[in-house]
Amino acid sequence: MNVATTIGKVDYDGLIPNNVGLGEDVRVKRALEKWHPGYINWWKDMGPEGFQESLVYLRTAVSVDAKGWAKFDYVRMPDYKWGILLAPQAEGRTIPFGAHAGEAAWQEVPGEYRAMLRRLIVIQGDTEPASVEQQRHLGKTAPSLYDMRNLFQVNVEEGRHLWAMVYLLQKYFGTDGREEAEALLERRSGDADSPRMLGAFNEQTPDWLSFFMFTYFTDRDGKMQLEALAQSGFDPLSRTCRFMLTEEAHHMFVGETGVTRVIQRTCEAMKEAGISDPYDIERVRKLGVIDLPTIQKKANLHFSLTLDLFGNEISTNAANAFHAGLKGRYRETRLADDHKLESSTYPVLRLIDGKIQNEDAPALAALNMRLRDDYVGDANVGVGRWNKVIESFGIPFEIKLPHVAFHRHIGEFSKIKTDIEGKALSDAEWQAKRSDVLPSDADRDFIESLMQPQLEPGKFASWIAPPKVGIDNKPGEFEYVKIA
Ligand SMILES: [Fe+2]
Ligand SMILES: [Fe+2]
Repeated sequence: MNVATTIGKVDYDGLIPNNVGLGEDVRVKRALEKWHPGYINWWKDMGPEGFQESLVYLRTAVSVDAKGWAKFDYVRMPDYKWGILLAPQAEGRTIPFGAHAGEAAWQEVPGEYRAMLRRLIVIQGDTEPASVEQQRHLGKTAPSLYDMRNLFQVNVEEGRHLWAMVYLLQKYFGTDGREEAEALLERRSGDADSPRMLGAFNEQTPDWLSFFMFTYFTDRDGKMQLEALAQSGFDPLSRTCRFMLTEEAHHMFVGETGVTRVIQRTCEAMKEAGISDPYDIERVRKLGVIDLPTIQKKANLHFSLTLDLFGNEISTNAANAFHAGLKGRYRETRLADDHKLESSTYPVLRLIDGKIQNEDAPALAALNMRLRDDYVGDANVGVGRWNKVIESFGIPFEIKLPHVAFHRHIGEFSKIKTDIEGKALSDAEWQAKRSDVLPSDADRDFIESLMQPQLEPGKFASWIAPPKVGIDNKPGEFEYVKIA
């Protein structure tokens, strides 16, 4: 099948919308049609709880070109057109890095790297349904119909990302690909016996501030991983990830603007009440808004959990995947070096004699560290924008990302406890300080008490400001979800 002839055109006639010529690819089409009922069952069991019959104003991808790929309309979520959409094939694309740099990009799986490639696809694929599971209870406490719609948009797109990875497994990996595709529907976030593969995807997303922090911090890990996989020498993976990134951008928008609106509302309420001390927590909370120190604690939690997703600072797997040409660096093609990294080094933050210090490591082994550094830089940009809001109210408070050694469970710093500046603490000191830097039970209870649904069009819960503009430029009172 010549994929290039079908690019850009999305076939909407069959069960599975696609731009990969599925109509002529009988084996894969059948495999996906067989997988489909299990997916719908999973969606109904583990997708958004209680709103499956509601009409949601969602965007659906109708083509993959830069302009107008998104079409907005009311859709019942189980009827959403989960499609298989790859970005256009780049003419004459070569493998951008690793031992095969400069060779023609692979259109089929290179036999010697089959197992490694499958593993990369499965790990990425596993995160997609996991976040839907983590967020399934949130619809019931939506602070507005606008926010509810954004939640569901993120959820259906994570479902589509699962389809994207399952397509690769079914098309390129035969029987074991099919088994992996089944297993992706069987694991469950937080399940004791059959959890999702990565730690942060087994944590709870108990409230809407967590949801915004998750989409800001954890979806941003998704962006970094997709950016690295979009560089892949295996062209179908590269094209899949490039298109997923266009959707991912919206998820991070939801997170960044969500947190901004929470901060905005807190600052407004403080100003109206004449409170200038951000640590006057009890008085601030009485206003029905979330105090800034608690917002900081939530950021500390989600940032540190997300850092664990980058894995060990020094990693043979990461080195092998790069050397093989399967997973590159952030913006690989824009980097000016030999793209092989066989003799270069990279500074890695390590725990040496109990002290946190930089040590040069072979650059290939340090690729997880490098991606994490790029992530931290990217994550700091939005934090700066949050602080601009606080500053505009003249409130003396600044949100800061904690040190990378803070509250870690994987890698160099999992062995120690530190404060948010990265200063080592004894177990007793950590226990004493923990509730100052991470959400306590009381903080959680307070936030939960605010999670009252606001389902009237154009209205917002007490703790969050309205957005500056509506989705698809709709006016403020637009009914984003018609609840059934
Ligand atoms: Fe995703
Ligand atoms: Fe996402």
